[in-house]
Amino acid sequence: MTRSGRSANQLQYEELQRAGQRLATAQEQLLQSEKMASIGQLAAGVAHEINNPIGYVGSNLGTLQDYGTVLLGLIEKYHEALFSDDPIAQRESLLRMRKQMDVEYIIGDLPNLLRESREGIERVVKIVQDLKDFSRVGREQKMQPADLLHGLDSTLNIVWNELKYKVRLEKHYNPLPQVECLASEINQVFMNLLLNAGQAIETHGTIELSSGCSDSEVWVNVTDNGCGIPADALPHLFDPFFTTKPIGRGTGLGLAISHSIVNKHHGRIDVKSRVGQGSTFQVVLPIRQPNLEQASPAAPPEAAS
Ligand SMILES: Nc1ncnc2c1ncn2[C@@H]1O[C@H](COP(=O)(O)OP(=O)(O)OP(=O)(O)O)[C@@H](O)[C@H]1O
Ligand SMILES: [Mg+2]
Repeated sequence: MTRSGRSANQLQYEELQRAGQRLATAQEQLLQSEKMASIGQLAAGVAHEINNPIGYVGSNLGTLQDYGTVLLGLIEKYHEALFSDDPIAQRESLLRMRKQMDVEYIIGDLPNLLRESREGIERVVKIVQDLKDFSRVGREQKMQPADLLHGLDSTLNIVWNELKYKVRLEKHYNPLPQVECLASEINQVFMNLLLNAGQAIETHGTIELSSGCSDSEVWVNVTDNGCGIPADALPHLFDPFFTTKPIGRGTGLGLAISHSIVNKHHGRIDVKSRVGQGSTFQVVLPIRQPNLEQASPAAPPEAAS
């Protein structure tokens, strides 16, 4: 026994617990910084995705302003005609004016411009929301039921600019039940898999996203028809810093971090690949997390003294 009345065994256990906590904090920080680094890398693409709709909303507003001027001018003319001494006599000239101003075309085009602009704004709002969800700091989050396919689509939105020029996307989603998880971390896994799949495709290719479930598990597959992975690289894929990409392109942390996130969720990532034909990364997650209290290690029994 020590002076404070605690056994050496207990002190050791407490020290171990503190070390465990420090490790968990360090891992959390690593996770967060990898997430932020990838957002940094994606920033230009996301900016482009936002700029594009903002561009056409701006140009639509210009056209709508012109249409407004024309229509208000015409209303003014109608008003003048209505209150003139002989409104019927004005009819012909008003009709001619209406034709000159191409009012029929404006009436057809105006709802389209408004709809397109509304869609553009909704797209920007969606991207900003996805980005906010994605960058949320994970600490002290509790695992909660989440819609994985919604998360996959949001993540796709964020990385789309990296993929859209060379990738044809195929979705074969089977509906999934809500899955107990840390949604923003699972999205980070999806992002790494999507980016890897895109980077495996040199010029043009296909990424297929599919999903399915059993009674207790769900799976999400990311399949590309890119370069494939040689057999001797397969055992190292999840090693931290294992990368075959040029310096500045890859840090080799994407899969290592994805693996640790999926592990934390009591799931697994399976890989199938053929050189020259492509790869499938399958994320398998339990629908409900095992009872966490049962899963955490029990305190050591007091040493008999
Ligand atoms: N879909 C894939 N097709 C072919 N090779 C892949 C695929 N996914 C991963 N790899 C291989 O696994 C390696 C490790 O992937 P990982 O995502 O961990 O790191 P990275 O992509 O190189 O860098 P980072 O993700 O940190 O930017 C890659 O360098 C690549 O060789
Ligand atoms: Mg990667």
